[in-house]
Amino acid sequence: MSCRICSMDTRVVLDLGSMPPANSLVSSTMQRQNNFPLVLEYCESCGSIQLQDCLDSEDLYRNYLYVTPNSAMLRKHYEYLSAYLVSRGYMSSRSRVFEIGSNAGYFLKHIQANVKSILGVDPAVNICEIARSEAVETICDFFDRPLAMRIKADRGQQDLIVARHCLAHNCDPNVVLDGVQELLSDSGFFVVENAYALNTIENNEFDQIYHEHMFYFTIRSMKALLAKHGLKLVDVLMSLVHGGSIVFVANREMSSPAVCDSVEQYQLREQMFLTEDAFHRFATNTSEIRRALKTLVEDLSHSGKSIYTYGATAKGNTLLNYVGLDRRTIPYCVDSTKIKQGKFLPKSNIEVISEESALGSPPDYFLLTAWNYKDEIITKVRTAGNYHSKFIVPIPFVHVV
Ligand code: TMP
Repeated sequence: MSCRICSMDTRVVLDLGSMPPANSLVSSTMQRQNNFPLVLEYCESCGSIQLQDCLDSEDLYRNYLYVTPNSAMLRKHYEYLSAYLVSRGYMSSRSRVFEIGSNAGYFLKHIQANVKSILGVDPAVNICEIARSEAVETICDFFDRPLAMRIKADRGQQDLIVARHCLAHNCDPNVVLDGVQELLSDSGFFVVENAYALNTIENNEFDQIYHEHMFYFTIRSMKALLAKHGLKLVDVLMSLVHGGSIVFVANREMSSPAVCDSVEQYQLREQMFLTEDAFHRFATNTSEIRRALKTLVEDLSHSGKSIYTYGATAKGNTLLNYVGLDRRTIPYCVDSTKIKQGKFLPKSNIEVISEESALGSPPDYFLLTAWNYKDEIITKVRTAGNYHSKFIVPIPFVHVV
């Protein structure tokens, strides 16, 4: 295929087969579930990693089941991110802040008292209602240049535009960048946070690959993308959330702040480690995780042990469907998100139950499909009085804790 950032030829690095969209939980196991190819491609020319096939955004996002969890780890992350933005001068009490893909509005709410104004935009009708019930003003739409022009006319340009874990969710990120170019004030900053491709590859996080994640950004590919829109990368920050994320900070080409050393340092690391060998290891380790996890779950099940998954995550669905696990060995998935409970995971047909229900009849093992919250979830389960269940952690390699 040709790269959606620079139009050069790409090559396949991993093929996970065909799967249903990861957040398409169903109300009944009889409901028809369509599968679509999940193939990862690499562009040597601009360093971007992307999906071969993109699904329609309206289908994926208008009614959305991912509500940002009320997690201590995420609250700490908001603290860390906002302290960083303030200390580097990217955000201040004078900043008008606009967040793209603001979900339930938790990040905006977190910074609200310390900035001039906040505004979010999110395409999911049901999620916008949650944000508004939390008093976070949210426009319910996809972000593009026409919307940016309307916001600019109504409220003026914005000093900080944030896109956390959503820029990669677009088949054509240029549409979002066009809007940013329109709406960003001359001295403003554009902040993108995303799972970092180098972490995904190095930590064998093949389960981060699902239809919503259409891009896996590297520093090199982000620079190429920003440059097409008159923006330059001035700083990067690494963070532990979502299995290893990167925060890119950009501003207008002609704006004054100098590029921080962090950009070159991390790009050098990327050059050294994101190699042909690394892609090869990633593919080999992915197959090995499939083999090890399937064997472990089947052995445990044959010896009469009960297993539930913990976290009805999008990545969990890639994991279960790629490994080939379903309700025959894992009848339940535990998740705190109310709108997921009572539904069934796509293809594996595992029923989602609440954390409280699982406490009533704890399984022998939890397969930790929300492994990115490992410590938080294990502490929560133990504090609630369950000292019985063990945890199978699938990534970066299969092990039991
Ligand atoms: P995420 O990894 O994409 O943020 O999804 C995390 C999922 O795990 C989300 O559906 C909520 C769920 N979850 C729990 O059920 N209990 C918890 O304590 C945490 C932190 C998350």
